[in-house]
Amino acid sequence: MIFGVDYYPEHWDKSEWEHQAALMKEGGFNTVRMGEFAWKLFEKSEGEFDFSFLDEAIEILAKYGIKTILGTPTAAPPKWIVNKYDMLQRDKYGREKGWDARRECCANSPDYIARTEIIVNEMAKHYADNPNVIAWQIDNEFGCHASTHCYCEHCRKEFAKWLREKYGTIENLNEKWGSVFWSLGYDSFDDIILPAYNSCEPTSGDLWSHNPALDLEYRRFSSDSWVKYQKRQIDIIRKYTSAPVTHNLMGHFSDISAYDLSKDLDFVSWDNYPDNQWGGSEHEYVSMAHETMRGAKDKNFIVMEEQSGPAGWDIMGRTPRPGELRLWTYQAIAHGAEGMVYFRFRTALFGMEQYWFGVLDHDGVPRRRFYELQQTGRELQELNDYIINAEPRYDALIVKSYDNVWAHDIKRHTADFSYRDLLYAYYKANIDLCVGTAVSRGSYDKYKVVYMPAYNIVTDGELDEIKAYVENGGTLVLSFRSGTRDEYNRVRPIAVPGVFAEMSGIEVEEFDAPRRSVSVGGEINGAAKVWCDVIKPVTAKVISKYAGEYYSGKAAVTVNDYGKGCVYYVGCDLDDSALKELVRMISKSAGIDAKDAPDGVEIIRKTSPKGDYTVILNFNETETEVDIKGKSLIEGGEFDGKLPPLGVEIIKERDRKIKKLY
Ligand code: GLA
Ligand code: ZN
Repeated sequence: MIFGVDYYPEHWDKSEWEHQAALMKEGGFNTVRMGEFAWKLFEKSEGEFDFSFLDEAIEILAKYGIKTILGTPTAAPPKWIVNKYDMLQRDKYGREKGWDARRECCANSPDYIARTEIIVNEMAKHYADNPNVIAWQIDNEFGCHASTHCYCEHCRKEFAKWLREKYGTIENLNEKWGSVFWSLGYDSFDDIILPAYNSCEPTSGDLWSHNPALDLEYRRFSSDSWVKYQKRQIDIIRKYTSAPVTHNLMGHFSDISAYDLSKDLDFVSWDNYPDNQWGGSEHEYVSMAHETMRGAKDKNFIVMEEQSGPAGWDIMGRTPRPGELRLWTYQAIAHGAEGMVYFRFRTALFGMEQYWFGVLDHDGVPRRRFYELQQTGRELQELNDYIINAEPRYDALIVKSYDNVWAHDIKRHTADFSYRDLLYAYYKANIDLCVGTAVSRGSYDKYKVVYMPAYNIVTDGELDEIKAYVENGGTLVLSFRSGTRDEYNRVRPIAVPGVFAEMSGIEVEEFDAPRRSVSVGGEINGAAKVWCDVIKPVTAKVISKYAGEYYSGKAAVTVNDYGKGCVYYVGCDLDDSALKELVRMISKSAGIDAKDAPDGVEIIRKTSPKGDYTVILNFNETETEVDIKGKSLIEGGEFDGKLPPLGVEIIKERDRKIKKLY
């Protein structure tokens, strides 16, 4: 399997390359990713191409058995290009973005597109027949540094085109957008604005308050712009080579749809910094990020950048504890990784990332982290046939919808509500109960339970699919704010839960955002705080009721039989332990073997071409016992149930050969 490092030969004197390659080999690394920020070296001035430094590096590495994944350098354009061409993004105040970071260019700038196509074409042509180049990475982390949204004139024009294609006539757009409100009617597509600075202060998210239809379409358009920009590069590379193409995505990052961005790629890769998961670093949150990346294509992935030391830019982060890099690696493998590339080999002496540590420190001397990864790599190569083409055994699905992320960002209902946190709460409850849980969309039939919390925007197609799933015996879990908007971000003119009302067998009479604790009691006991739907059951059975506020005694959580399946409606947020009890109850009724994992432990079951196995991960810094024993696939001996601090085990379940999955 791919076990590699991100490498920047251009940061080191050539005299060091050979030694560095030898050290990589000693560490067990067989792959490097290179080139993704070296545009200035590849094209010193307009049309003057020179790939010699990279040719040499690739060759030296190859002598040590190390293959190359090549990154196209378009995230960091050199100064001569931005001097001459019009390609810098504009922010929501209309200010041009500065240069000397990266990701400052606009996906819709004709000049940026043209220069991109030229450099990618030269690079692809040059490396097409190089046997040491095994894959391509397009650009680097689209959307990073808040670069998804641009407010320049190119974007305005492209947005108008995009809307014309979608709506056909301006009358249609005005009708769908409710442009009668505040005299927002447009006379032509050329009139359409971008949701930039206006006199309304932002109330949520990072954009200004605008017509919610405009806002949602602009977010869809911005996501599409990068998908299109990426596709241009892929098309060029494919003219020259059949080597697989990827892009390094960003886990929970949601400004660009991971479904759309990954559809043109051969495989997904992503960058995982467990200590810097913008939004949380709980192990379940990191696992959910892995699953989100697996769910993008419903296919295993590669980690293209994995944290390998203290991570930080201007300040240094925490040093990974002994065993932690190995643990994070097995966590990735457990949740779908088939290859690991660590960021970066040796820590930079200069530039923005002096404090973002790699496998080796500034001095390049192999120490604890190097040897820990060396051991990890050895183990993984032994386990190769259990890892490649392995499938997680999923019972549940958390549906992630980018439309819903964006719509909730635009109008998040109440100050304390976060759609992302709600999805995470459901994921955490499931994984803490050892329920194999995917984070994806569609193909509902593969799962025993499908969670669609706060699924606000529902298209007719989605509704038909989910109905069929329940009719055929599936279990669907909905929550407050599900089913209330259409794809144009208009509120539906029907009682909550809108299009889900019949399936849920309820009517929501009122709702409240209490901002103080409201007790909930019945089969599930706990408290709500963010949202309370006051439910009138029609055909549904009540699971829990409110015991507080003026709606005390009214239904809070219900379940309804529908076709051969059933629909749960969770009318309120629940504290973590109540939500876990609810998920336990739902899982059991759906025939899932839900059992508490000890605190700080994850237990993941997988199927591979070599048989089934269980991965056990101990995130505690103390020894922890689990009630699983068996033959260890890592050490070969008998596992007695005791995991050392930050320890890992893989237990063989039974010998069962299955056919190749991909
Ligand atoms: C990202 C980028 C890398 C590097 C690391 C560390 O993931 O892709 O180029 O900047 O972060 O900061
Ligand atoms: Zn732009």
